[in-house]
Amino acid sequence: MALFGSKSPPPGGPALPGRRVLALGAALGETAQAALAGAEIVAGTVEQLDGLGLADCDLVLIDADAWDAAALAAAVKSLSAAKAPPPVLMVGASLPAGLVRNLLRLDHADILEAPFSDEQLSAAMLALLAAVAAPAAGPASDSRCWAVTGAVGGSGATTIAIEIAHALAAADKGRVCLVDLNVADGAASAYLGATPALRLSEFGPAAERIDASMLQAFATPVSDRLDLLAHPRDAAAFDTASREAVLRVLEIACESYDWVILDVPRHRRPWTLEALAGADEVLVISELTVPALLAARALSDEIEDALGTGLKPRIVLNRLASRMFGPAPSMAEAERALQRKAVAGVSSDWEAAAASVNLGGPIAQHRPKSKIVKDIEALVEKLVSEAARRDATRAA
Ligand SMILES: Nc1ncnc2c1ncn2[C@@H]1O[C@H](COP(=O)(O)OP(=O)(O)OP(=O)(O)O)[C@@H](O)[C@H]1O
Ligand SMILES: [Mg+2]
Repeated sequence: MALFGSKSPPPGGPALPGRRVLALGAALGETAQAALAGAEIVAGTVEQLDGLGLADCDLVLIDADAWDAAALAAAVKSLSAAKAPPPVLMVGASLPAGLVRNLLRLDHADILEAPFSDEQLSAAMLALLAAVAAPAAGPASDSRCWAVTGAVGGSGATTIAIEIAHALAAADKGRVCLVDLNVADGAASAYLGATPALRLSEFGPAAERIDASMLQAFATPVSDRLDLLAHPRDAAAFDTASREAVLRVLEIACESYDWVILDVPRHRRPWTLEALAGADEVLVISELTVPALLAARALSDEIEDALGTGLKPRIVLNRLASRMFGPAPSMAEAERALQRKAVAGVSSDWEAAAASVNLGGPIAQHRPKSKIVKDIEALVEKLVSEAARRDATRAA
């Protein structure tokens, strides 16, 4: 993996849809909502702390001034005895030493002295969420990054990027991150039935504050070994998400995961070439129509010339169908039009593709017997073994 050129967190509060915050103290609900837009804030009582686990909520926010200090200290102590307690942020103007001592028994806890701003509250909550989400293992040392892009709209780039990421994770090849770089209206989260949580536009130019823990807070878990980084729908995001923020996310993703699969929009952005230059493979997805094949050939040449690193994009022919269904070019005819060999073909299976997007999840999960799944597995195996051979040659 080459490094993505970048350097530079969110001013204001990042939105974290789907996070559940238990707020103890009547005054906290609205403050927390303003600081952590999109999170689900539930008002609770001190008694609820007993035996509370991460399965119940992602974070506990306590206003120490709203409760009797001795009762609160005892409740926090019992929380620290729980198996996997959620992180706790305690706020207040006067925090007794006994209470603080019990708070410090927790693996993840912090204190914020009143008065504080929404930004301070947001930063403290985010840091705790990130600390819990951060992987226990150290960063992946030798990650691989594959970029997938479509020759024409609708050629199947997102579908193939999802299936590749799922296949790598299912084959136990390490931790995998799928990054949907269509920040305006990417479909990966909808296809996977996942909530997108990466609001790049809020980072502005201050991208260097993005670190591994923060990235984990923005990642949506899809399965055990597969996370998704995707931007919530935002028509202006291509203008407001800075080049620095995009490249920084890619750089940190490559440090944090064994595999990073990029779904790259085909129109060039200020960060496109650097993103592609950081990839080990660029896959251009084409369908079997003459305009798509010509576009695939042109796009691969453009990428190869612009990168000038010797990296040759590889073409994947998607939606291979029996010729019975119309005058589509054969694979050999397609390769003649492309003036190069395709690295792989992926069969057409509309039923499986539709079932997957309608149910939310990879085709391999909902239609494991689909030819698409076998073809993607073959493609992944081919690319993995070629990379292993290249590594072995380099090492010799
Ligand atoms: N091999 C296939 N067989 C049948 N349907 C497919 C196949 N691959 C993709 N599709 C379907 O084609 C449509 C377009 O696919 P997808 O969204 O992945 O394309 P895309 O290249 O990412 O499009 P965009 O240009 O909008 O980003 C979707 O409905 C998808 O389910
Ligand atoms: Mg797409």
